[in-house]
Amino acid sequence: MKNSATSSFGVSARIGHDSSKFYNSKLYENLYFDIKKGGKENPILEKNLNKIFCKSSENMSELPDNSVHLMLTSPPYNVSKDYDENLTLDEYLKLLKSVFKETKRVLVNGGRVCINIANIGRKPYIPLTMYVNQIMIELGFLMRGEIIWDKSASSGVSLAWGSFKSASNPVLRDTHEYILVFSKGDFKREKRDKLDSINKENFMEWSKSIWRFGAVSAKKVGHPAPFPIELPRRLIEFYSFENDIVLDPFIGSGTTALAAIDLKRNFVGYEINDEYVKLANSKIKNHKGLF
Ligand SMILES: C[S@@+](CC[C@H](N)C(=O)[O-])C[C@H]1O[C@@H](n2cnc3c(N)ncnc32)[C@H](O)[C@@H]1O
Repeated sequence: MKNSATSSFGVSARIGHDSSKFYNSKLYENLYFDIKKGGKENPILEKNLNKIFCKSSENMSELPDNSVHLMLTSPPYNVSKDYDENLTLDEYLKLLKSVFKETKRVLVNGGRVCINIANIGRKPYIPLTMYVNQIMIELGFLMRGEIIWDKSASSGVSLAWGSFKSASNPVLRDTHEYILVFSKGDFKREKRDKLDSINKENFMEWSKSIWRFGAVSAKKVGHPAPFPIELPRRLIEFYSFENDIVLDPFIGSGTTALAAIDLKRNFVGYEINDEYVKLANSKIKNHKGLF
């Protein structure tokens, strides 16, 4: 088969694609990102592994530099949910930036970050994803892409139509959220003797940028804003190897920990609310295994 190359009209199949023309174009000339090859990984003390710390993740002093393989999280939304502080947008972004800066310190070279976030409000709409992408790029992360999580299969879709059946002021009812994906230092991680757990069918399906599965009931979980276990499950299998260390700096009810346990990964979580830490620890203790 003939290898493809970037052309004015795009190409239909991208097998053995030569993209050097695209990456050498001026578009990439002034882009800032940190590329670092190699770098030693540091072990996390046994006593700090598979544990949730009840404190702010702005300071993760329990974790050495270059020790975590995957960070995945859904940050607080600052929209006056039970657990939310009433921060200004600037204060809120400052909090996220300090957690993501600390995340960069603890990630190994090639380590990944997956941030599940939704844009919020209507009057006007606040594109939080735009601000978060900006922060991550300023911090020197390499963006890998973004996943649209289509939640329309869930029952609780909003009925706030705005002006129903009229162009007067119709309102978009968001049935999606985002998962923004980044790497530190290098896109690639060496496989060597590490084990993957993903199968062929899931790899082919999850490498598509739109994921469809329903949300989970806050009432059932006992936390105001949990994500369904399918979300960390896919990210963990797609972006990490078995025995890797998965960090969730806003772990809430512990969903990330449950997925990590089921998939033979280690976890570390941070959560400022001690009621949620208790809830997460009891879920972990009574966990039967989901997959
Ligand atoms: C969107 S929720 C995460 C829910 C979680 N994914 C789950 O499935 O349960 C965000 C969590 O971040 C916690 N939080 C807020 N600020 C924090 C901080 N500075 N450090 C650690 N946790 C924080 C909140 O208490 C809340 O439980």
